[in-house]
Amino acid sequence: MQQAIAILDSGVGGLTVVKEVMRQLPQEKIIYFGDTARAPYGSRHPEEVNLFTTQIVDYLIQYSPKMLVIACNTATAVALEDIRKRVSVPVIGVISPGARAAIKTTRSGIVGIIGTVGTIRSGAYEQALKSISPGTTVYSHACPQLVPIVESGNFDGPDTMKAIEDSLTELRSKPIDCLVLGCTHYPFLSGLIGEVVGRDVSLISSADETAREISTILYHQHMLVTNNETPIHQFFCSGEPILFKQITTNWLREQIQDTPIVWQVPNFL
Ligand code: DGL
Repeated sequence: MQQAIAILDSGVGGLTVVKEVMRQLPQEKIIYFGDTARAPYGSRHPEEVNLFTTQIVDYLIQYSPKMLVIACNTATAVALEDIRKRVSVPVIGVISPGARAAIKTTRSGIVGIIGTVGTIRSGAYEQALKSISPGTTVYSHACPQLVPIVESGNFDGPDTMKAIEDSLTELRSKPIDCLVLGCTHYPFLSGLIGEVVGRDVSLISSADETAREISTILYHQHMLVTNNETPIHQFFCSGEPILFKQITTNWLREQIQDTPIVWQVPNFL
């Protein structure tokens, strides 16, 4: 049986990474876990986020994945190192890839970051950006309103636009030339976020760079799939499955049209 790439998030946000992985590596089998029953993670205590992440990893590891992707910035910020010590397969998060993508894009070296309260409070992006390019100026801002909006499937409309405008008021006055979407939920709103910040500010999602890192790791470990068999993906959510399934199939529409999916609600929580 094909070994999967296991990808997890607090909810539907990690699907923004899944989409890019499916685009770049269409032969690879994906196991996705969205902890929709306990989302959002962003305002929870770091110890709780660490515990939830560990529980999900322990669950996913039963499926013998060949690698684990923590497609949640909040969980990456607090749990990445612990999870690396816990499992024997390669584990990557989304913060280093996001920071690399920002440094590749910025011309002025003045970068904005939006994320959850937990991600922004951790300072992990600032640290990652400055470790690549110490002279970078970073302006960051937490946007706690946005994850619940995405989880409810309201990707447009006046209320969503108002929440985005309110969330970005402070950063709009800063001379940034790129804005890191430091939460994997935010690319669902990138059209509206782009309208609010304007064309002169490039939006950075970590999805593309994360998929590239997955590909590099699997290549070097000789673990990329080489046959042409269609993979059968598995999608888990811990909460109500109808909306999760709807958001997932709409978001991944082009990637999954010829690909079978198994949907499951695990009962370990
Ligand atoms: N997608 C998660 C992240 O990247 C959202 C966290 C949350 O559930 O608040 O941080």
